[in-house]
Amino acid sequence: MLALSLALGGCATDKPIGEKRFENSGFERGTLRGWTAEGAAFGDECVSVDNKDADGNYYYKEGEFFFSGGKAPKGTRGTLTSETFTIEGDKIGFLIGAGSDPDKCYVSIVDEKGNELARRGNDEFGMAGYYNSMHRVVIDVSAHKGKKAAVKIVDNDAGNDNFNYLNVDDFILNYQGETEEVSKTKAADKYISENSSKINAQYRHTYHAMPPVGWMNDPNGFGYAFGKYQLFYQFHPYSSAWGPMHWGHYQSSDLVKWELMPTALAPDTAFDANGCFSGTSIVHNDKMYLMYTAVLDPFQTQALAVSDDGIKFTKRGRVISSDATPPDSSKNDFRDPKVFRRGDSFYALIGSKSNAGEGQILLYKSADLMQWQYVGVAHRDRRTNGIYECPDLATFGDKDVLITSPQGFATNEWRHENLHSNLYMVGNLNTETGKFTIESEDEIDSGLDFYAPQTMSSPDGRTIMIAWMQMWSRSLPTQAHGWAGAMILPRELSLVNGKLYQKPIREIEAYRQNKVEKDSLTVNGEASVEGVEGTTVELSFTLDMGTASRAGVKIFAGLDHETLVYYDKATDLVVIDRSECGVRITGDGKEKDAAIRHAKVDVKNNSVTFRIFLDKSSAEVFINDGERTLTSNVYSSPSDTGIKFFSQGGAATVRNLTKYDIVVD
Ligand code: FRU
Repeated sequence: MLALSLALGGCATDKPIGEKRFENSGFERGTLRGWTAEGAAFGDECVSVDNKDADGNYYYKEGEFFFSGGKAPKGTRGTLTSETFTIEGDKIGFLIGAGSDPDKCYVSIVDEKGNELARRGNDEFGMAGYYNSMHRVVIDVSAHKGKKAAVKIVDNDAGNDNFNYLNVDDFILNYQGETEEVSKTKAADKYISENSSKINAQYRHTYHAMPPVGWMNDPNGFGYAFGKYQLFYQFHPYSSAWGPMHWGHYQSSDLVKWELMPTALAPDTAFDANGCFSGTSIVHNDKMYLMYTAVLDPFQTQALAVSDDGIKFTKRGRVISSDATPPDSSKNDFRDPKVFRRGDSFYALIGSKSNAGEGQILLYKSADLMQWQYVGVAHRDRRTNGIYECPDLATFGDKDVLITSPQGFATNEWRHENLHSNLYMVGNLNTETGKFTIESEDEIDSGLDFYAPQTMSSPDGRTIMIAWMQMWSRSLPTQAHGWAGAMILPRELSLVNGKLYQKPIREIEAYRQNKVEKDSLTVNGEASVEGVEGTTVELSFTLDMGTASRAGVKIFAGLDHETLVYYDKATDLVVIDRSECGVRITGDGKEKDAAIRHAKVDVKNNSVTFRIFLDKSSAEVFINDGERTLTSNVYSSPSDTGIKFFSQGGAATVRNLTKYDIVVD
């Protein structure tokens, strides 16, 4: 009942209707037109488009332009007065930033004679966001309704060393919304800005997305919008352990270099106070929508946020409550919407669990992203012991691929050896009934650290997948270093004869340097090649097994440590073994181990091909052109930079060996 009443009451709108402004009240003319300046602190050079200051901190402007006081000559004073208007509403709202001394820099409301009616400085200086960041405040003018008045921005601070100027924007005369005095997204950004340089960088990757500080899990809202790739992620800035979930945000032009953006969502409303859990994004009518799981313990509902610029997100409220689930379903395990469009309708696949503990995925339909109807159960599975987390859907020709991350999925020989696993099903989704008809299924990645994959379509038509390169219920050596979690190198997917193939995104090739090649290397015991070493490398070769029973490569190899990647002829398995890597990872007691994983491959002509990406503390192994992959983190010592080939039981040959350093500055 509580869930339903909150669900109905939780809708906020983007902007109040009928906002009243005065001439150039948001500086959108690009000049100070309409305002009268006195003194040197207020010139046209201060009307700025930059959304970041010199230190990379966001101003959080509204629209294209805002007033950036720091662009005036240092130590100057002055006033800037608007045209006259009649006070009609109770509150005048605007954005304010900088102005370290609110007694010297402030915004006044003055009457026609210039007498001050009310005043507001940046009383939250340094609290809400970084110093230059603006946040919304209001001035109460209810006692002055009907009077003629003007906005007068005052800079009476001649200092030049401590934000002695004001940033202001977007004056609204009849403001009806809330103030943002304590903005949790900006507080997160401030924390990042002050703490990210304090983390220990020993295991930091160089070409994988990672949290700037704190904890990262699932990728969220992976997509393309506003001319960039967009990657959000489950984020807890304040510690390297999972905590109240925010959505962190990165943008990229090439899926390799990620630019940190302001935190997109924080658990800051009455309907998501316990967390903004995973979800996806969709672009509709030039706006970007995030559909995420709003958590108000113990309830999980689906909520929507929207953005005009892909930077600032406004929550629209709850849109699907857990009352809209089948009667035999858990009301508290209902999460991770994958939103997509088919024809004129929007659909959402949502992770769920029956009361009997079976994982299931539910389908919902909407015409406008706001009103949703339940369609049916897409898939229900006995083999899980928990929820089917993070559903995803990709389409290849006339086939749909349903992707999910089942908790506690039963191990099947070498497949699903992790306690929390990953799975894809090939078939078709019937959007009328909701049913997904399965033709075949398989594991996506068989390594130790791969979870919660999401796919997106790139502008050039590729299906690209990203995933969390970490695993639940494991010891995490980087936690002591102030961070945890990373993303895989994004992969291009294709479906060949009902089987998913994965290739690293081609954009990574632009970062190759220092090529080393060797046509053929005989390995009988152990062998190495000069120049083939390092921990930020791409390595590819064909392994001709010859008479060997087992052969492969030792990575992160040093005097005391090594991680093995090899093919074992007797079992027909490719194995990754990090048991001697340096730092022992422990798992949940329910997992058979947290060191060795297997993948069965199709071996032709007694040979297997490998393409391996190492990045400081990770190894991504692509076998036989992406037929199978093994992704695992490896925590070794800084001196473990060796790469050595080995064979057992006979001699093998390494052919077409190529090594590149991957260098991303
Ligand atoms: C998967 C998951 C999701 C949930 C999120 C919370 O890793 O458990 O189901 O939305 O993490 O951080």
